[in-house]
Amino acid sequence: MTCVNLTKEKSDKLNQKFTNQELLRSGIIAELDAINLYQSQIENIDNEESKKIITHVMNEEKEHVAELTCALIKQDPSQGKYLKKFLKTVDIDKLDCIGKNND
Ligand SMILES: [Fe+2]
Repeated sequence: MTCVNLTKEKSDKLNQKFTNQELLRSGIIAELDAINLYQSQIENIDNEESKKIITHVMNEEKEHVAELTCALIKQDPSQGKYLKKFLKTVDIDKLDCIGKNND
C-alpha cells in the first residue's frame, strides 16, 4: 500500500485545483445541455423571429463551450495536450473525428 503524505497547503491546493477543473467541466456540460435544449426548441418552433433569437442564443452557448474549454486547458494542461494532438491528426473540414494517432 502506498502512503502519500501531503502537507495541508499542498492538499488544499490539490483540492482547489480539482474543484476548479470540476467546475469548468460541469460548466461545459451545462452549456452543451443548453445547446441541446435550444436545438430542440428551434426544431419545434413555428415563429421565425423566436427561432432566430434562440439560434443566436444557442450560438453564444457554443462560444461559451469554447471559452470554458480554454479555461479548463489552463487548469488541466493534459486536456490541452490531447486536444492539440487530436486536432493535428484530423481534417476538421471532413469531420473525421476518429483521428489517426490515438493512444
Ligand atoms: Fe452560456
